[in-house]
Amino acid sequence: MSKLMIVGCGGVASVAIHKCCQNSEVFDEILIASRTKSKCDALKEKLAPNTKTKISTACVNADDMRDVASLIKAWEPDAVLNVALPYQDLTVMDACLEAGVHYIDTANYEPEDTEDPRWREIYEERCKRLGFTAYFDYSWQWDYQDKFKKAGLTALLGSGFDPGVTSVYAAYAQKHYFDEIHTIDILDCNGGDHGYPFATNFNPEVNLREVSAPGSYWEDGRWVEIPAMSIKREYDFPQVGMKDMYLLHHEEIESLAKNIPGVKRIRFFMTFGQSYLTHMKCLENVGMLRTDPVDFNGQKIVPIQFLKELLPDPASLGPRTVGKTNIGCIFTGVKDGKEKTLYIYNVCDHQECYKEVGSQAVSYTTGVPAMIGSMLVLQGLWRKPGVYNVEEFDPDPYMDALNKWGLPWVVCANPKLVD
Ligand SMILES: NC(=O)c1ccc[n+]([C@@H]2O[C@H](COP(=O)([O-])OP(=O)(O)OC[C@H]3O[C@@H](n4cnc5c(N)ncnc54)[C@H](OP(=O)(O)O)[C@@H]3O)[C@@H](O)[C@H]2O)c1
Repeated sequence: MSKLMIVGCGGVASVAIHKCCQNSEVFDEILIASRTKSKCDALKEKLAPNTKTKISTACVNADDMRDVASLIKAWEPDAVLNVALPYQDLTVMDACLEAGVHYIDTANYEPEDTEDPRWREIYEERCKRLGFTAYFDYSWQWDYQDKFKKAGLTALLGSGFDPGVTSVYAAYAQKHYFDEIHTIDILDCNGGDHGYPFATNFNPEVNLREVSAPGSYWEDGRWVEIPAMSIKREYDFPQVGMKDMYLLHHEEIESLAKNIPGVKRIRFFMTFGQSYLTHMKCLENVGMLRTDPVDFNGQKIVPIQFLKELLPDPASLGPRTVGKTNIGCIFTGVKDGKEKTLYIYNVCDHQECYKEVGSQAVSYTTGVPAMIGSMLVLQGLWRKPGVYNVEEFDPDPYMDALNKWGLPWVVCANPKLVD
């Protein structure tokens, strides 16, 4: 008998909620709580006739810790799944501590206002100390370790696909295939086509911030930072084909460097078409990716937020996106004294996802693992007091659940490596 409160009702949340409703044995009751209650109500109306899961809805301001905490106290869930935006991670974590419930999310904290002087001071010190300049990093949430330990509560960080499934693949490779992993290349390929000249597959603001930031990778115990999109490779992805991919900074590099002993290099590559890159560069050059407020006709507007209003809603891409995603990890290392290479990946078809839950594969590949992480916490299989990334738990039940709930994986020996 478990109750889950879900914060946010966007593209990822919608898939996670569909999946909770398919899994009523675990999720007896869910509360969908988001800024725009009408979206929560519409989803409830769609799902309620075909599920045993009891669905409630509420309006919540996730930027306000007290608002979230009082809703948790009133509804009394066992855990909160935060699938709003990374800006709200800390307020939702604080609310979980205040109300005494477990916490799960899919993306690490970043501030909405990157000009906030208090945040900026800590950020600039971190840039110097760690050597990467992305706005998001785990230090803010890892700092909650003692608070969650003392409260006897679990905070599970990053249970999406990347981070999330890719990190569980690493834990699984470590447990079953290697004595020591030496390199990890995480390859995120979206071979889908939505037919628009330019659109992002998840929240445009978060997505564009991520991909316009300098790239970086982990090598020999330190970060190496490079200009955005300056390392390009080609890879022939199973079931998708040959694609250009670019090295990006990505949050799971930070946690895997800490949690996979002996790893010497971790890189993250994402595929982009030339049209996407040209649009993004142009938007950046004219200032549309700025995250600080500017004056416009006597009003303050944040250019990237205004741009979000103009771009297609990622949730609307489902019916028009065709093709497949392929996301996975290539590992090199040693087993029983012999060198070894391995590729673990998932292929997901946009139209199959749309048929099942009404969303494209990028939301699907994040929403399914968000449900799985929540399920394992609720079942007590992944529960220990403190703040943990997904690779710090036993990967086996998560890997079994991926096969069961729509994201089957393939293990391939001796893959082509990325140079
Ligand atoms: N790990 C991964 O693989 C992965 C991949 C993709 C995305 N993600 C993460 O998943 C999360 C959700 O992404 P998405 O694409 O679903 O975003 P989205 O479609 O923009 O949905 C965000 C939802 O959060 C709600 N929200 C925003 N601010 C809020 C506030 N202050 N109070 C209450 N609700 C608020 C929004 O409400 P409105 O409806 O009113 O706007 C919306 O329903 C993000 O953190 C993203 O970084 C992770």
